[in-house]
Amino acid sequence: MRFIAPAAFCLVAACTTGSSLPEASIGIAPVLTSEEARDEYTFARPQEARVTHLALDLDLDFTRQSVGGTARLNIAAAPGVQQIILDSSGLQIANITAPDGAALAFEIGDTVEGKGEPVTVKIGDARRITIRYTAAPQADALQWLAPEQTAGGEHPYVFSQGQAILNRSWIPTQDSPGIRQTWEARITAPAPLDVVMSGIRQGEPEDVGQGRRAFSFAMDKPVAPYLIALAAGHIDFRALGPRTGVWSEPETLERAAAELVDTEAMIDAAEALYGPYRWGRYDMIVLPPSFPYGGMENPTLTFLTPTFIAGDRSLTGLVAHELAHSWSGNLVTYASWRDGWLNEGVTSYIESRISEVVFGARRAAQERALAFAGVEGAVEERGADAPETALRTPAALDPFATDSSITYDKGALFLHTVESIVGRERFDAWLRSWFDRHAFQPATSAMFLADMRQNLIGDDAALEQRLQLDAWVYGTGIPDNVARPDPAAFAQVDAASRAYAAGRTLDAQAWAGWSTAERMRFMQNLPDALSDAELATLDRTLGLSGTGNSEVKFLWLQTALENRYDPAVPQAEAFLAGVGRNKFVEPLFDALVKQGDWGMPIARRIYAATRPLYHSYTRGRVDLLLGAES
Ligand code: BES
Ligand code: ZN
Repeated sequence: MRFIAPAAFCLVAACTTGSSLPEASIGIAPVLTSEEARDEYTFARPQEARVTHLALDLDLDFTRQSVGGTARLNIAAAPGVQQIILDSSGLQIANITAPDGAALAFEIGDTVEGKGEPVTVKIGDARRITIRYTAAPQADALQWLAPEQTAGGEHPYVFSQGQAILNRSWIPTQDSPGIRQTWEARITAPAPLDVVMSGIRQGEPEDVGQGRRAFSFAMDKPVAPYLIALAAGHIDFRALGPRTGVWSEPETLERAAAELVDTEAMIDAAEALYGPYRWGRYDMIVLPPSFPYGGMENPTLTFLTPTFIAGDRSLTGLVAHELAHSWSGNLVTYASWRDGWLNEGVTSYIESRISEVVFGARRAAQERALAFAGVEGAVEERGADAPETALRTPAALDPFATDSSITYDKGALFLHTVESIVGRERFDAWLRSWFDRHAFQPATSAMFLADMRQNLIGDDAALEQRLQLDAWVYGTGIPDNVARPDPAAFAQVDAASRAYAAGRTLDAQAWAGWSTAERMRFMQNLPDALSDAELATLDRTLGLSGTGNSEVKFLWLQTALENRYDPAVPQAEAFLAGVGRNKFVEPLFDALVKQGDWGMPIARRIYAATRPLYHSYTRGRVDLLLGAES
């Protein structure tokens, strides 16, 4: 039987008027019944009953920092099934009703650490239910910002982050990547705040009285529920191209728009390689600095950290990355968190291909070389036979605990390797066809390899042997057929690193001509131990303290703190107070913690001030580093 995603064929309006499913089928992807696709982080039992469509009607309350209202779920259930299990994390449910208004019994189970609690609803024969609820008071997915935490300083702000399993703290549904759902939403907020979501806006904002406005959205493609996202604040929009634009607070809009001028070219590049962009618009929102990630691929509306703005477009690989998820991840999604590389590794590969078209072969080669060094470093650190160096992660690994050097960079390296062996033209055609064949469906590592064998390798046994597919996906370390990056990519900067190591010579002029990737390479290859005098010279000669490039600044601060360099502490403090991106925050606190008697008191002092500024994810990570009492 071929899986037909039922919701994919009905428009939102049709979906909401009831199930159009054939009686006998509940339309779940066959893959979801396989053991390798099992998601250990959901309570849902999709084989019995699954959500196909979600309609939210919610009010944002900035005074109480809470969100509540109703969620209507369309359900596909096997014949005779009388209950459905949803995921929750602290949701406060007032009642659940059938279409005729009858109250349905439900039960909220015990909380399981890291997973939340199951909500079992006795649906009887009902296949559409309405849940009246309020999100958890401290919903993990949502960060509410006071006016002082925004650039404008006048209006409050809220944004959500669903991945990995945070959306269950504000949306009562089955929160598992394989359980795709179409959705629609009506959200009210006080004027003059604007609301945006990861779906297409429907009509103009509507005045609903008491100074509030309602915004409507729809996503008519079935998506993984972690991709439902919302932001609301004092934000403006600037068009970039026919289908692209950027939202941000007015204060940052100009700089953001200037940094994003290559976006249409990126979409063109991706489409030429992997087929049409299927989501309609591609807008972006630049969030306040506490956003915990670099970017998040929310469909139709990528969420971005403001730290990608360097002034010279040198960090917009991030945009290429989130855009690439429009194929890898959003169009074809992993069914379980164990196949994270299928999302992030394939995406990092596509990012590299987009980068090559838009920024040129040299920049792409340098970015690949940086990533390669990261994979080598991770494998060396963990050991070539460490289970966590396999692409398909071994056991129940925390879905947040992706090791980016493996999931992202080893994943991309695998595809670069296959490409180099079968040839670019043939590999591109296959990857494009993979997306077409599995569009809007969940997938697993095994499906990916099976498809590759069927449609790329065929009965070419010699090719099969050369590719070492299983070694790449299920094995540890780096297989020996790896396609190494171009050694010329960093020839110049590596010579400079050797000169510095040998005689502490620095060439400010050379540095000034280097790309961001080259500068990062140089910073990463500095000697481990540096004296205060050497650090002072580095800083002065290369202008590290004054750089507006967040990646370079981060590497400078990390080096300085690892060497107990007191003069950098105020800068580190300012940086940590101004940025909530976990990729920067966690390693800097980690560097301090590792400097025990010198660093620990500094870490505690800084964190006491910055903790309230961070999103729950970043806060959780740093709490772990600093111990419970912080
Ligand atoms: N989907 C991820 C962000 C994410 C990963 C959120 C895991 C929650 C759990 C996003 O696409 C991403 O990879 N962002 C990177 C971008 C970078 C690799 C260019 C980031 O945030 O740094
Ligand atoms: Zn990603």
